Amino acid sequence: MSASSAPGIPPVPRSILVVGGGAREHALAWRLRADPGVERILEAPGNAGHGDVAQVVSDVHADESVALVALARREGVDLVVVGPEAPLVSGLADRMRAAGIPTFGPCAAAAALEGSKALCRRIATRGGVPMASGAVFDAVAPALAYAASLDGPVVVKADGLAAGKGVTVCRSLQDAEAALRDALERRVFGDAGRRVIVERALEGREASVIAICDTTTALALPAARDHKRILAGDRGPNTGGMGAFSPVADLDDSAVAQVVADFHLPTLAALAARGRPFRGALYAGLMLTDEGPRLLEYNVRFGDPEAQAILPRVAVPLAPLLLAAATDRLAEAATALGIGGPLLPAREEAAVALVLAAEGYPGTPATGDEIEGIDAARAAGALVFEAGTARREGRTVTSGGRVLTVVGRGRDVPEAAERAHAAADLVHFRGRQVRADIGRPAVERVP
Ligand code: AMP
Ligand code: GLY
Repeated sequence: MSASSAPGIPPVPRSILVVGGGAREHALAWRLRADPGVERILEAPGNAGHGDVAQVVSDVHADESVALVALARREGVDLVVVGPEAPLVSGLADRMRAAGIPTFGPCAAAAALEGSKALCRRIATRGGVPMASGAVFDAVAPALAYAASLDGPVVVKADGLAAGKGVTVCRSLQDAEAALRDALERRVFGDAGRRVIVERALEGREASVIAICDTTTALALPAARDHKRILAGDRGPNTGGMGAFSPVADLDDSAVAQVVADFHLPTLAALAARGRPFRGALYAGLMLTDEGPRLLEYNVRFGDPEAQAILPRVAVPLAPLLLAAATDRLAEAATALGIGGPLLPAREEAAVALVLAAEGYPGTPATGDEIEGIDAARAAGALVFEAGTARREGRTVTSGGRVLTVVGRGRDVPEAAERAHAAADLVHFRGRQVRADIGRPAVERVP
């Protein structure tokens, strides 16, 4: 490989292929392009709006692993970074590695941690990771009996990938029965609901800790808090995420370091012991309960929109660390970059990421509406990362549910939030949805 190296600095990938095309991938491409020594970012399928930082290869899609390997080979990339989970679960990283191409993103066997919540529970149990009591079922009657034994609110989760819709929080046993019948009998999640997890419902605030990992080492990015519901005050249906901020006041640096010790490291060890070596971003979705953090789920990738809030805060070169993680040299690379502990050095500033969504989202989104004001938002100092956008006859139009992410930065979360909301107000399209409360606790309390 042609990655460049200088004394004291781990090899820097000159040419990187980012797989995906959402706002998370735009943020990844933007952040990686800023690293010294990185000369070129390819993005497949990308988005016409990512041309500011990447060379977009729109005719190769994220699920076309053979074409992606051929592209990576043809272009001689030094590193592949996979954004979304679906290609990882179906083995894209395995195919890249088999072709000798360093890849940041786990093999299919390790990506199953996100692809199967039952496997996630087994691995987490083996690693002694703190989580709610729960069990796996494939029939309604025993699942319901178990739910009754938990004696309180429960959560019913479809085992497989269900586009973020597979989790139902149940206040009563009737709710639990309905959720169990939906998944196991009516198969509303298809095969993803052939098995379910019944878990005690936890109370607290949520936070996400994403770590860059190889099979033995984890380096945590700053913690973030995502907002999954469509409406302010955490009301309305769940979405892929409507906004996120970082840092999180109730999860300070020493708490994040403890999370790495209690969650990421034992999970990497449990995965490796089961022949599932993990190299990529391990995302711990946590509930901060009165008894301490508890695991809600693992994802095997950067979060979206968490990445858009976190990546601007990373204060060290990211590209060499991702290459080091992909090649099992993360500890060595961290030492060479002067990183002493389990935390990736972060800028003191805060960042607030707001998702602007299309009318109809999270149901069927309206498309084809003209978007105005992206340049104005950038001129105001915000970052704008595009997702559901397309170029048509020289205009930018909506083409998906989560249209774009606007990121404001500031000394603290309130200042970053004011900047993010002011910049988001400059971006217009018909039916635009944005949560007014993200990063603004005072607005959160307005009914
Ligand atoms: P997951 O896909 O597992 O992250 O679940 C989606 C959302 O469901 C989480 O972000 C939580 O809001 C909620 N959730 C999952 N598990 C639990 C639990 N044990 N208690 C309360 N809420 C949960
Ligand atoms: N924002 C949540 C996720 O990426 O899964």
